[in-house]
Amino acid sequence: MESPEHGRSKVLAVLSTWLLLAALPGTIASYSVGVGRADTTGPVAEIVFMGYAKIDQKGSGLHLRTFSRAFIIDDGEERFVFVSVDSAMIGNGVRQTVLQNLANEFGSLYTEKNVMISATHSHSTPGGFMLHMLFDITTFGFVKETFDAMVNGITKSIHRAHYAMVPGRIFIAHGEVHGVNINRSPAAYLNNPKSEREKYKHDVDKILTQVQFVGADDRPLGVINWFAIHPTSMNNTNHLVSSDNVGYASILFEKIMNNDSLPGKGSFVAAFASSNLGDVSPNTRGPKCEFSGSNCSKHYTCPGRKEMCFASGPGKDMFESTSIIANKIFKESWRLWQYGNAKEVIGPIRVAHRYVNMAKQTAKYYNATTRRTEIVHGCEPAMGYSFAAGTIDGPGSFSFEQGTTTANPMWNAVRNLLATPTTEDVTCHGAKPILLATGRMYLPYEWQPKIVATQVALIGNVVIAGVPGEFTTMSGRRLREAIKTVMNDASDDETSVIVAGLCNTYSDYVTTPEEYQIQRYEGASTIYGPHTLTLYLKQYQELVTAAILKKDVDPGPTPPDLRKKNLLTFVTPVLYDTPKWGRNFGDCIRQPQKFATSGDIVSAVFISGHPRNNLMTENSYLTIERLADDEVWVPVANDASWETKFEWQRMSMVLGSSQVIITWQVPENIKPGEYRIRHNGYYRYILGGIFPYYGVSNHFQILPGGSSCCRRRPYYV
Ligand SMILES: *[C@@H]1O[C@H](CO)[C@@H](O)[C@H](O)[C@H]1NC(C)=O
Ligand SMILES: *[C@@H]1O[C@H](CO)[C@@H](O)[C@H](O)[C@H]1NC(C)=O
Ligand SMILES: *[C@@H]1O[C@H](CO)[C@@H](O)[C@H](O)[C@H]1NC(C)=O
Ligand SMILES: *[C@@H]1O[C@H](CO)[C@@H](O)[C@H](O)[C@H]1NC(C)=O
Repeated sequence: MESPEHGRSKVLAVLSTWLLLAALPGTIASYSVGVGRADTTGPVAEIVFMGYAKIDQKGSGLHLRTFSRAFIIDDGEERFVFVSVDSAMIGNGVRQTVLQNLANEFGSLYTEKNVMISATHSHSTPGGFMLHMLFDITTFGFVKETFDAMVNGITKSIHRAHYAMVPGRIFIAHGEVHGVNINRSPAAYLNNPKSEREKYKHDVDKILTQVQFVGADDRPLGVINWFAIHPTSMNNTNHLVSSDNVGYASILFEKIMNNDSLPGKGSFVAAFASSNLGDVSPNTRGPKCEFSGSNCSKHYTCPGRKEMCFASGPGKDMFESTSIIANKIFKESWRLWQYGNAKEVIGPIRVAHRYVNMAKQTAKYYNATTRRTEIVHGCEPAMGYSFAAGTIDGPGSFSFEQGTTTANPMWNAVRNLLATPTTEDVTCHGAKPILLATGRMYLPYEWQPKIVATQVALIGNVVIAGVPGEFTTMSGRRLREAIKTVMNDASDDETSVIVAGLCNTYSDYVTTPEEYQIQRYEGASTIYGPHTLTLYLKQYQELVTAAILKKDVDPGPTPPDLRKKNLLTFVTPVLYDTPKWGRNFGDCIRQPQKFATSGDIVSAVFISGHPRNNLMTENSYLTIERLADDEVWVPVANDASWETKFEWQRMSMVLGSSQVIITWQVPENIKPGEYRIRHNGYYRYILGGIFPYYGVSNHFQILPGGSSCCRRRPYYV
């Protein structure tokens, strides 16, 4: 057997040779790089959103379209693909279907090993794509429309990146964003050792890590930013599909780089990807009681429980909060892009991937209390009581408190109808009282994954660790340290380790063993028990070592293919649409005002079909149009623009009639002139078939800035 010392010096030798080679003039590693973006927006009406697990939070329209953003890097020997998707999470079913599509087109070029798919974790997108029972239960089961929209969008973004590949260079920069994130479980964080906490100024990460893609001709191609924050600025009362704070930051960056083109258009691609956001809230005012505004109790409840305890801010409502957070994150990333002292990334690309059955893993753990090194192991998946309490970003629907470490016999009875945890489960999960023994629940199929994907990519001495869940702040820091230990042993050069969150498989949260003891929401949702993190630290160190040494890793057990199951679904299809009596689809039944100026809200109402008849992928349900000098209407905003909202209203269930309200907040610096609002949609004819329709509003006049009161001119149709 190889001694650890020997292994380490071998790693050292290999890595330093490659970095040396890379640094020699004339041998600078030149990469091929490509970026691509595609629309992933699912059904925007009547489908429950994924994230808050609130069954009455169904979509009824669209604020920001969602996108998949893909980045490919190739050093001539290895290829790595990073994808960031505006979605709550990524499941094995979505990933496998994307890989199958890619295999059909490109053969063995794109595989589990080199494609890393990360979700931004927006809580305002339609659900039903996860396949695992626990995650699809609140969305009334599997929703094929959501699943297909995601799979097709992700595939198309990689396809586009593939065909956009050019010789290019990569740079890395680090910055900090303040005033946008807080720790939502400080009590758990405080249970980490003092000596460890003292190494950090804040209880959440403020670092923004940026990787820049530039063509060999210096043409800017794309950028990935990693920042740890929950996209939960849009709260659980929102019904408009949205990519939330980080999605809007992407739109802001892309708008500047793509010469003011409409969202979703233009070749420059900017991702704001997830990181160790497990315990990180964007609701910077912190938890407060709903009506009284007073502080919540220690367990995040309010007196009498008549009011909810939740966090909001920094804006006056969730839209303003989303915008403030997005703009602050964007501003720092833009500063880094322009003046960030970015360092060129050089050196070979290495990738490694392994599936692991978490309950079967063991690792060494130094217990500071007993001062002994113990062998610890994983548990079969289970969710604790505090999971049902929700968080300050979205309180739960039942009367559970966070920090619950004792069980309630009523809930145990309900739970036992589903599956009784074994004595072994109870011992294994330690401080966590088990609410759902998901690892023992097989009806009608698996409830939570037992097997997760673990993956790393090395680009020179930048390491991207793709993790299958939501690492808390300190868990992410420990993972970065653990990987740095392996890398630093091998090189004196500064290593950057990036924790890419919610990649490939979703297995809920990962806290430190110390945070786990407090059993807040994140601890209760750390499904493989107190040592989930301890096991991951070992896994990722092994993957990085294997990648450096270019050693094959055992692929691990194959996760079950839930796509082959008879997936439950209770989502009913659209049956038919009829317009209101005496009306046609597309009729504008409430016209916009005749005059408006910057800051005003203009709106129109149209007779509509159901938006689920056609998702308008890479298209738009609405367009704000300006009459140009040559008498043609040019689009100035679409349904992915921040300034517009598209709201769908069911008017009669029996008749299948509905209408849409389109609003446009007139932006600053708008060209004065003649404008109109257009609506495009499809209706389902009662005797079969789906047909397109459109409608346009009357023209209206945008007056030059300032108040519209005194500059009114006569209005001509
Ligand atoms: C933006 O416009 C400038 C100047 O017209 C042009 O050089 C550049 O290529 C454009 N960028 C994109 C992404 O279209
Ligand atoms: C509420 O909590 C804040 C922050 O912990 C504290 O500064 C403040 O004094 C508390 N207010 C009351 C009325 O307890
Ligand atoms: C969500 O935000 C709205 C304001 O946009 C606010 O009225 C509401 O109370 C918030 N609800 C929750 C549960 O955060
Ligand atoms: C450390 O050991 C103590 C005493 O056996 C135990 O109570 C505690 O749970 C252990 N800590 C962890 C994180 O396992």
